[in-house]
Amino acid sequence: MRTLDDLDVKGRRVLVRADLNVPLDGETITDDGRIRASVPTIKTLVERGAKVVVCAHLGRPKGQVNPKYSLKPVATRLGELLGQDVAFATDVVGDSAVSTVEALQDGQVALLENLRYEPGEESKDDAVRGEFAAKLAGLAELYVGDGFGAVHRKHASVYDVPRLLPHAAGGLVVAEVEVLRKLTEDTERPYVVVLGGAKVSDKLGVIANLLTKVDRLLIGGGMAYTFLKAQGHEVGKSLLQEDQLDQVRGFLDEAKRRGVELVLPVDVLAAVTYAPDAEHDVVEATAIPAEREGLDIGPKTRELFAAKLADAKTVFWNGPMGVFEFDAFSGGTKAVAQALIDADAFTVVGGGDSAAAVRKLGLPEDGFSHISTGGGASLEYLEGKTLPGLAALED
Ligand code: 3PG
Repeated sequence: MRTLDDLDVKGRRVLVRADLNVPLDGETITDDGRIRASVPTIKTLVERGAKVVVCAHLGRPKGQVNPKYSLKPVATRLGELLGQDVAFATDVVGDSAVSTVEALQDGQVALLENLRYEPGEESKDDAVRGEFAAKLAGLAELYVGDGFGAVHRKHASVYDVPRLLPHAAGGLVVAEVEVLRKLTEDTERPYVVVLGGAKVSDKLGVIANLLTKVDRLLIGGGMAYTFLKAQGHEVGKSLLQEDQLDQVRGFLDEAKRRGVELVLPVDVLAAVTYAPDAEHDVVEATAIPAEREGLDIGPKTRELFAAKLADAKTVFWNGPMGVFEFDAFSGGTKAVAQALIDADAFTVVGGGDSAAAVRKLGLPEDGFSHISTGGGASLEYLEGKTLPGLAALED
């Protein structure tokens, strides 16, 4: 993969595909981790005298202009972090984009409006995507792929534009790939993976693949209830994906067959309703009352998971252990994060939610070997899939 050092950017318009998909509360950015992660590449280009045109998506506006998903607040935050103005184009490839880019001087930065306002960005039709990609590529002379969180998407800005312009991978993509490669080759053992988050269906591919690689798989969060149910336990009103039960039973059998230790919660915080102040009790994970739902792993599980992480040499963690956005149900996620910090291991946190949880819970980011900006992207990388955005950069 070519890197920034392989491009002569001085005085040239460089289109940077970043992942600036940050959580917003109205116009307030609640976690700016992805913006901060994008700064080094943009800064390098600025210092080398490029005219930097940043493009990115926010949320899923599905090809429609929707002010709720405007990147305007991101432009402001990016400017603060860079310590210089970031010009904002109010469209993606229209008049505003063209005039904003034309006005750029060497070392200046512009951000285009949300790529996903344009139906061409995500179209499955190669011709439609190609047409939009040509317009986007027309704004610049060079392309830098730095949006690691989006490299698993076969989208115009990720997959097609690098085919139209001389290109290189940005520093973030290079760093992410280097770390994730370490999790797939010559992994130091014991190799322990902790998976959480709401949906088991999002993780089917990665679980199947991990069962061939890891020594231990710890499952928490919303997806654990489908595993508990597959073992024949009652899970009350907890999150459950009935349609995944057969597949999950298959995973339980496969883990046994391969000698992979698959560890599930032994107790949970069972609440009467899904609310920050919901009345709740600690109950056995195998006997969740019919009217209750599990919103976090319980104290015995926190100890168990910490013990299973204590001797690990390599750890990958994706997905919160409970509803960490509610203080009362954030303890399990915090305990797992702390166990990673305490482990004498190579520790990687993958996924927007887990990374946001680390920051929200006030844990030191430098307590981990690496916090990936990619959620789906890091999982698909570990699954061993070819990621369209990386393939395009390697071409
Ligand atoms: C992410 O949030 O994981 C990336 O920004 C990709 O977003 P997407 O899942 O909406 O494609």
